Amino acid sequence: MFNAQQVRALQASSKQWISSAAGEITTENIEAVRNVLRFHEHRYYVENDPLISDYEYDIIYKKLQQFEEDNQELITDDSPTQRVGKGLIKNFPKVQHLVPMLSLDNSYNADDLNDFDRKVRELSGLTAIEYCVEPKFDGASISLVYDKDKLLRGITRGDGETGDDITPNVLQIRSVPVKALFCEYGIEQIEIRGEVMMNKSNFAKYNESLMEEGLPPLANPRNAAAGTLRMKDSAVVSKRNLEAFLYHISFITMGKITAQKIPDTHSGLLEMLWSLGFKSPKKEMKVAQGIADVIAYVNEFETKRDTLPYEIDGMVIKVNNLELQDKLGMTSHHPRWAIAFKFKARQATSTLLDIEYQVGRTGAVTPVAKIAAAQVGGVTVTSISVHNEDYIKEKDLRIGDHILIERSGDVIPQIVKSLPELRAGDEKEIEFPRQCPVCNDDLVRPEAEAVWRCVNINCEAQVAERIIHFVSKDAMDIKSMGEANVRKFFAMGLIKDIPSIYDLEAVHLKTLEGFGQKSIDNLLEALEASKLQPLHRLIYGLGIRYVGETTAKMLAQAVTNIFDLAKMNTEQLLQLDDVGVKVADSITKFFLNEDNVDMLHRLEAAGVQIKSQKKALTSATLSGQTFLFTGTLNKLKRKEAEEMVEANGGKILSAVSSNLNYLIVGDDAGSKLEKAKKLVSVKIMSEDDFLAMIG
Ligand code: IVH
Repeated sequence: MFNAQQVRALQASSKQWISSAAGEITTENIEAVRNVLRFHEHRYYVENDPLISDYEYDIIYKKLQQFEEDNQELITDDSPTQRVGKGLIKNFPKVQHLVPMLSLDNSYNADDLNDFDRKVRELSGLTAIEYCVEPKFDGASISLVYDKDKLLRGITRGDGETGDDITPNVLQIRSVPVKALFCEYGIEQIEIRGEVMMNKSNFAKYNESLMEEGLPPLANPRNAAAGTLRMKDSAVVSKRNLEAFLYHISFITMGKITAQKIPDTHSGLLEMLWSLGFKSPKKEMKVAQGIADVIAYVNEFETKRDTLPYEIDGMVIKVNNLELQDKLGMTSHHPRWAIAFKFKARQATSTLLDIEYQVGRTGAVTPVAKIAAAQVGGVTVTSISVHNEDYIKEKDLRIGDHILIERSGDVIPQIVKSLPELRAGDEKEIEFPRQCPVCNDDLVRPEAEAVWRCVNINCEAQVAERIIHFVSKDAMDIKSMGEANVRKFFAMGLIKDIPSIYDLEAVHLKTLEGFGQKSIDNLLEALEASKLQPLHRLIYGLGIRYVGETTAKMLAQAVTNIFDLAKMNTEQLLQLDDVGVKVADSITKFFLNEDNVDMLHRLEAAGVQIKSQKKALTSATLSGQTFLFTGTLNKLKRKEAEEMVEANGGKILSAVSSNLNYLIVGDDAGSKLEKAKKLVSVKIMSEDDFLAMIG
């Protein structure tokens, strides 16, 4: 899309706009500013290889936004600022696809693939076939129509013949170009097919936010992507960070003849789409000579499945030569020139044996389905959360039901649906309890919430869960304590609330079975060490509703002492980053409860650190970026390097994942480097490059 020279020029121009050296935006240079933003969107959303930080992008974006606000007559439809939705969508008009969207025939093993190849060879009369093999993206299919370089509309698959026009929502997918230079190929109108995806880490975040709201999580990213595409408010769609892979051209009308020829192979089309700015599977595809090559590649890809940032459910094998594709044609259901190879299923059937009810630290009562042991995606599943009463009703679950379960990627297992067709008649309806299964108090279901709660804050289940949360790894990290010990000490009356853990003494523990001198020493040492944990861990450990780790870190930066939080009113709390009404209310409520204030005084008296060790940011140039160091660094100590990242607004991750932006590699780097190489989204750099970047 951009050659090295253009990249250098655009990057230099970006730096000038960031630093204001380029001066003011004018009628003359506005398109150049837009091009700079389009370039960075492409680097970020298509190439997964940003050249500037989110913060720096925002500086330029805001300048353009301001200029356009002051000069509204200069706004164009394809300006990067114009993706933003305008109001709610009333309904999605039905639109006919230019060509019906067919599905693919499936294959499951090498024999099936050999059969497919034999048929292709017989029909074509050729002895060896060139195939293009690419991932089968597990998302929601869409079709995009461009008319003279401009995105005309985006349509859902629908029934294959007609779909819903969801253009305002498609505009929120930043990897879909609003404008692409099809004219260079002489193309007048083009229909492109692809898959809209929510990547695994955005899906995990989305599910977390649903659960925080007391809503059940979704079973897989496909449902999340499909649901998001149909939202009436495109501003919400924008926040979900969808992406789109485009892998098929279904229709073209040509205008004038041009020097640039349209490729005559499928792999060539994927390259063409990529060079026009689309996220096509150019990097993931392989051109294979003969079916043995295909089989080797699909097997290799299946082993990589879990390391990809997005879900795929198989591979698609396509005859590479487009003329041959035409010759082979279609059956009424699917093309004869392509086949899907499906990976091992992540769904299985089982039976619902019983429902147990667990009381969490906020008193929420969660029903957990006990199921007949089932193997899904290589893991044995015996229990699955079924979230709340409405969820059980919605899924029409009954004890004894046959159920379909799914475990996709790292996602916790879910019940997809019950199979009522298989009922024998003796299945039992599920009656959600009205009393707490632990303290027997009446449960309460606040209006507009789906959760039944035990509101007795002294309910033993809640107290124990609160202590478990307090000692957990991400909170005070009291290693030798652990969930099992907390339950044991609590049941024996050795601890009764959070501060009482610091009253534990050797004499109490000596009589316990399995507790030798060594374990006692370890536990007491761990308790002592935890008193010096940084303030954000204490704040997170208190279990204030809606205050997760990130909010806790921000709060710890904002105060000098934990009691400052008690003194802040809602207005002051709302001034803080990322604090909305819900979080502010929850913090206020927490400190209004005298038991909580008393608990903090007892913790302070026990010697727990309640003061903040604030660190000032030197800059925010790395804001929004994540880093991980591996191997031995030569110029910096590891800790020092990590502090530099944090001081510039970046974040340190503990493992290589699709959330990681940069892996900084020292000498003798090992498995982290290997893993990062498999992730297209991770940028690998040396210590020197890192130092240069930080400046
Ligand atoms: S090609 C005419 N390629 O899988 C052939 N489809 O079961 C058009 N899919 O409806 C489809 N990844 O929604 C093709 N790389 C890929 C794909 C892919 C996912 C979906 C697509 C299709 C379904 C077929």
